[in-house]
Amino acid sequence: MAELTQAQLLELVNTKKIAPGNPRVRQLTERIVTDLFQTIDELDVTPDEFWAATAWLTRLGAAGQTGLITAGLGFDRLLDIRADEADQKAGREGGTPRAIEGPLFVAGAPTAKVEVRVDEGEPKGEVFVMEGQVLDLDGKPVPHAMVDVWHANEKGGYSHFMPGMQPYELRRRIETDAKGFYRFRSFLPPGYAIPPTGPVAELFAALGRHGQRPAHIHFLVAAPGMRTLTTQVNIPGDSYIDDDFAFATRDGLIVALERNVAPAGYESLGITAPFTRSVFNFVLPRAASEDEALPLTRMERVATPG
Ligand code: BEZ
Ligand code: FE
Repeated sequence: MAELTQAQLLELVNTKKIAPGNPRVRQLTERIVTDLFQTIDELDVTPDEFWAATAWLTRLGAAGQTGLITAGLGFDRLLDIRADEADQKAGREGGTPRAIEGPLFVAGAPTAKVEVRVDEGEPKGEVFVMEGQVLDLDGKPVPHAMVDVWHANEKGGYSHFMPGMQPYELRRRIETDAKGFYRFRSFLPPGYAIPPTGPVAELFAALGRHGQRPAHIHFLVAAPGMRTLTTQVNIPGDSYIDDDFAFATRDGLIVALERNVAPAGYESLGITAPFTRSVFNFVLPRAASEDEALPLTRMERVATPG
């Protein structure tokens, strides 16, 4: 019993138990361990390589960069592709495409009714207004939807993650009016880059990859009875638009920009000179279950008991 072949060891690891445990966790663990045993054997992974990988994982967690690597290795987009495929199979096509949430959402942003300045104080870039309606698949307004918006600052950093930024800087929640209208003023943000040092930067250097994202703005759109939408729009003209390290650019999510829009009607947003505008409607399908309408992000969902 003390001497084991690789196959005998794998069998032991995968079958040991003193209680039923969680069958799904047992199933997934068995598959991952089996695949990893096979990888180690077939690729002749050395002990140094193995222990360097575990040290890297420890540093990854300690640096809070897990969410960068899931996006950079395509898992976030994979889950979206799988959700799209499931919709297609179920005949649930249509609506604004979903797009990855990313790891930089922060819950509890200040709320406003119908319109808000997402930026604060002096403009930090090209003055930008995004506006439109939340609609259902028949084009009918969705009243009193909540549009949660967040984006990077002029250096590509996100509040709560970049030192020196104000709490909830560039993060707001906008409740639409009875006709589903929302609008906000901000500035056109630049793209995002992974931190230049740390475990993710090391892996990307070893892979010969960059860690750049094109300019984008995130949204979580929720309304009673409607399926919560997590998405983001891309700003056209960014050189990384088709080369996002997180693979998130999608047709239908690259907004059209109108430049030199006359300021009349936008005074309540502090606009007195020609500015750049994008009109964008969010189209939500009806929720097929209460769960689908929960106004939660990915981490809030897994933090919710039950
Ligand atoms: C972002 O949306 O900025 C982001 C997405 C994935 C990984 C890192 C950042
Ligand atoms: Fe982002």
